[in-house]
Amino acid sequence: MSKFNRREFFQVSTIGGLALSLPLNLKAGGPKNKKEKLDPYFSSVGRFSHSFLRKIANKYGSPTYIYDWDLIKTRYLEFSDGFKKHYPKVKVHYAYKANTNLNIVSYLTSLGAGAECISIGEMSFALKAGQTGKNIIFTSNSKSEEELGFAIKNNILINIDSLSGLENLEKVLKKVKSKSRVCFRINPDVETSSTHKHISTGHKFTKFGLMYLNGDIYKAAKRAIENNLISFEGIHSHIGSQILESKPFEKNANILCSIALEIKRKFGHEISFINMGGGLGIPYRDNQARFSPERLASIVCPIIKKSFSKFKNLPEVWLEPGRYLVAEAGVLLSRVNSVKMTDITNFINVDTGFNHLARPIMYEAYHRVRILNGKSKTKKFQVAGNICETGDMLTKDRLLPKPEVGDILALLDSGAYGFTMASEYNSFYLPAEVAIKGKSDYLIRKREDFDDLLRNQKIQKSLI
Ligand SMILES: Cc1ncc(COP(=O)(O)O)c(C=O)c1O
Repeated sequence: MSKFNRREFFQVSTIGGLALSLPLNLKAGGPKNKKEKLDPYFSSVGRFSHSFLRKIANKYGSPTYIYDWDLIKTRYLEFSDGFKKHYPKVKVHYAYKANTNLNIVSYLTSLGAGAECISIGEMSFALKAGQTGKNIIFTSNSKSEEELGFAIKNNILINIDSLSGLENLEKVLKKVKSKSRVCFRINPDVETSSTHKHISTGHKFTKFGLMYLNGDIYKAAKRAIENNLISFEGIHSHIGSQILESKPFEKNANILCSIALEIKRKFGHEISFINMGGGLGIPYRDNQARFSPERLASIVCPIIKKSFSKFKNLPEVWLEPGRYLVAEAGVLLSRVNSVKMTDITNFINVDTGFNHLARPIMYEAYHRVRILNGKSKTKKFQVAGNICETGDMLTKDRLLPKPEVGDILALLDSGAYGFTMASEYNSFYLPAEVAIKGKSDYLIRKREDFDDLLRNQKIQKSLI
């Protein structure tokens, strides 16, 4: 044991908000012999060895996203069980925007998750993954008539974002002579200091939600209650993403509860759920502490229980985690194309870039990086993508071993907002996706080729 780092042999599990160390069950990705080191930071359970990941990269090519199936399950159960310990009626809706591979969304459906969707595409993925409309939420600040029609037809819950959006829905309902289930997204004016400004969604200057401050939420609630084509079921707020502090969640819970109580006082209407949104962050950095779902539950659930003690029924608590369920399960494997050492800085040039992992350029996001060559750290390097833009840097200065051309470089925690944000910019092909479950690896999306780039283009001879 002395040769190995303690974390290589212990899986961190969170029970009751406390991080516990459990013996790690070494599976497919485990070391073949004791001399080969497991990288303790591959994911928070350190399941894959370098040689295993090299094998996967050689088998499927590069760049390739891989997903640890067992970790997706662990994170889902951590979320739903963590909340169920603190509240009797809980529903977890997976936020599809984090990753829509059909295998992932179908797996989460089988584990019991519902779906939070933003577009007809995402709603269609949810239906294909075995969801019924009853378990799908359609949330968007800008819904077209076509999208509303699709949601109505499939009995999907429509999350209304503005008074104008409510009017549009009323018109469509009249036109199609149908009813619809509705909830309201609220802008609670809650600031989040721990997250990037582009993913802070709950303060008053964002485009999201009916304002709590100016009372728009009550105007909307009154209209919905008076409209017999609308069944007004609940309220919602999503205050941002990658949040690792308790105060904003606590403030949001208090505001949602006070709104629900005011709706009951003003109109005598009792809602059946409070949707707290997603947003729980993950530890992207080596020394960042985990904020467990159970800790979140221990903060928000007592607020809801206390507020609703005089209601006939306690409302259900709904959650919409995306990142927390899939981010840590994902690793983007790429290959080193060249290594450029200069007097000013050192670059590792890889065969992927912001076209496949946009988070660094979009949110200045930090992803841990490992070079799978078994050497120890030597120099500061920047990992540069292959896109023809100066901004295409996947990391700033990092202490890394000097790679050889052809070495595999792994970008960790890339399972959420990785592939779903990928594009075909510079006409690079979208990467393959591979699932690792138990001892087996499965191709769950083949790498694109030139035919995929051409797929929807039409050659018009008269233009050429
Ligand atoms: C309405 C809504 N719900 C849930 C989520 C999921 O957030 P996260 O992945 O941070 O949990 C998002 C993300 O942007 C969102 O916009």
